[in-house]
Amino acid sequence: MALRHFLTLNDCTPEELQHIIHRAIEMKKQLANIRQQQPFKGYVMGMLFEKSSTRTRVSFEAGMAQLGGHAMFLSPRDTQLGRGEPIADSSIVLSSMLDIIMIRTFGHERLVEFAKHSSVPVINALTDGYHPCQLLADMQTYQEHRGSIQGKKVAWIGDGNNMCQSYMLAAAQFDFELAIACPPGYEPDKALLEAHADRVTVTHDAEYAAQNADLLVTDVWASMGQEDEQKARETAFASFQINEALMDIANDGALFMHCLPAHRGEEISENMLDHPSSVAWDEAENRLHAQKALVEFLLLENAKG
Ligand code: CP
Ligand code: NVA
Repeated sequence: MALRHFLTLNDCTPEELQHIIHRAIEMKKQLANIRQQQPFKGYVMGMLFEKSSTRTRVSFEAGMAQLGGHAMFLSPRDTQLGRGEPIADSSIVLSSMLDIIMIRTFGHERLVEFAKHSSVPVINALTDGYHPCQLLADMQTYQEHRGSIQGKKVAWIGDGNNMCQSYMLAAAQFDFELAIACPPGYEPDKALLEAHADRVTVTHDAEYAAQNADLLVTDVWASMGQEDEQKARETAFASFQINEALMDIANDGALFMHCLPAHRGEEISENMLDHPSSVAWDEAENRLHAQKALVEFLLLENAKG
């Protein structure tokens, strides 16, 4: 059987994604049992970070410890990868010593290249293209608060970035409608849009996208690696903020999510994270539970082969 990786949501079937979320919800309730059982005692995860992180690093590291395993933080400052050792060589060597590897990097092709040469499962912990682990947590959070997201409408307000593109794949995998509102010139990948035209629309009007929405989501205007564009983006995105007034346009009971870190006064109003509709703190915590379920899924699936 071919080695299973998690580079985008499309590496799993809709049924497998539902299974992972179901397990995440279950593992959240059974933390004491997991700590006692230590199902992955002796297993080691490598965590390659070429960009900063708070939630992703801590959730994977804590999650592996709770499962009985260990997680090793590897930064380009301290590894030969950072001094130009080829990705393929690094992948062959690291995967010969580790049981599972997560990578946060820039171009998505760097992750794909690493996975191609790895003999153990590789997890996308964010690339410029996608952030699928965040989507597991977001889908878990929606389900916990409102039940199934199938048939609902999600409004993405902001940049057509890695999170937006992950929501596009989620729309197909979890069967919901996605209305994207972004400034002209900041749309997601054109080919991806064409492939999802049956359920994903793009407008340049945040209020229009928010109408009839059950979930409003946003992210920073300038992602990691785009720091030089911050000022230009502040101008372009000025009318793409999730605030109390925009929430009022959405359906009654609509939720608000943000993957964090957030910039108050930019993509969200000052108090939006504490708004009654906000589930952003649960969403952040669920990274821990969803990723433990993902690690369990990948280790068990690959053990079958
Ligand atoms: N949401 C998220 O991935 O956060 P970090 O950048 O802190 O890992
Ligand atoms: N789009 C953001 C997400 C951070 C979790 C970034 O890539 O910086």
